[in-house]
Amino acid sequence: KQNAKYRILVSDQMSEEGLLPLLQSDFVECVQKNVDVVEDLTVFDALLVRSATKVTNELLEKMTNVKIVARAGVGVDNIDLDAATKRGVVVVNAPDGNTISTAEHTFAMICSLLRKIPQANASIKSGKWDRKAFQGAELRGKTLGIIGFGRIGTQIAQRAKAFEMPLLVFDPFLTKERAQKIGVTSASLDEVLTTADIITVHTPLTKETKGLLGMKNIAKTKPGIYLINCARGGIIDEQALKHYLASGHVAGAALDVFEEEPATDRELIEFEQVITTPHIAASTVEAQLNVASQVSEEVLNFLEGEPARNS
Ligand code: MLT
Repeated sequence: KQNAKYRILVSDQMSEEGLLPLLQSDFVECVQKNVDVVEDLTVFDALLVRSATKVTNELLEKMTNVKIVARAGVGVDNIDLDAATKRGVVVVNAPDGNTISTAEHTFAMICSLLRKIPQANASIKSGKWDRKAFQGAELRGKTLGIIGFGRIGTQIAQRAKAFEMPLLVFDPFLTKERAQKIGVTSASLDEVLTTADIITVHTPLTKETKGLLGMKNIAKTKPGIYLINCARGGIIDEQALKHYLASGHVAGAALDVFEEEPATDRELIEFEQVITTPHIAASTVEAQLNVASQVSEEVLNFLEGEPARNS
């Protein structure tokens, strides 16, 4: 574009419609290419990513003119925040664009796990008609333990109420008043571990949450526990999970995220009582439109001199 003031690199696959504010702006030249195949990275003022592009110190070193990195999603664990801060590069995310999609996917995983829907589907597609193998369990009356009660955890609770599930929540920032207002019981981590029938995690991956459900804590859970991770790989320690799946202590696990992605641990994936999806909780038309348009507007405003809202 002739009048382009800003060059923006969109390195991961994003909703075209969500990117319209950038694509239609006369002031912006928007390049949709992976960082690995761009020859001259120094010309860009902004970088937009989802989770695939790793925004490392080395990458930032090459992007000498970049002023803002925007994550079209929530988790910024693929971005080296210290390196960005050192260079004065602002990092923003789209904190609420995919909340509902992630909560709905988590719920779909809980239902699928307890009713063995993926296994039954695979069985019937392979030509069988096996009704005995797929006896499930009801959700009603099962205590759902929610670890992490931010936007997504809260939406899970709203949905679980419709399924008549008692709710036990561990979040150090949850006040008794807010818990009461939403209709959940605020509990310690140990209370959630020892009382819940199903545990779902909704925290970011940090030093504190890495391996939160590991050998010691899974041992505290009820025999027959179901574990769900649609947040970040590593919050449930995969070695520990395999150990307790093999012993039968964990009745089933539903995983959308993995310690390493693409997931490589076949032993974990191939447990009959493990159901998996390839990190698609936020992959809906609506969520992708939301996150892409949120970051597009944020980046444009920022380059035009406004303060970042979601940094
Ligand atoms: C997020 O952090 O927003 C989700 O994991 C979705 C994604 O990685 O795109």
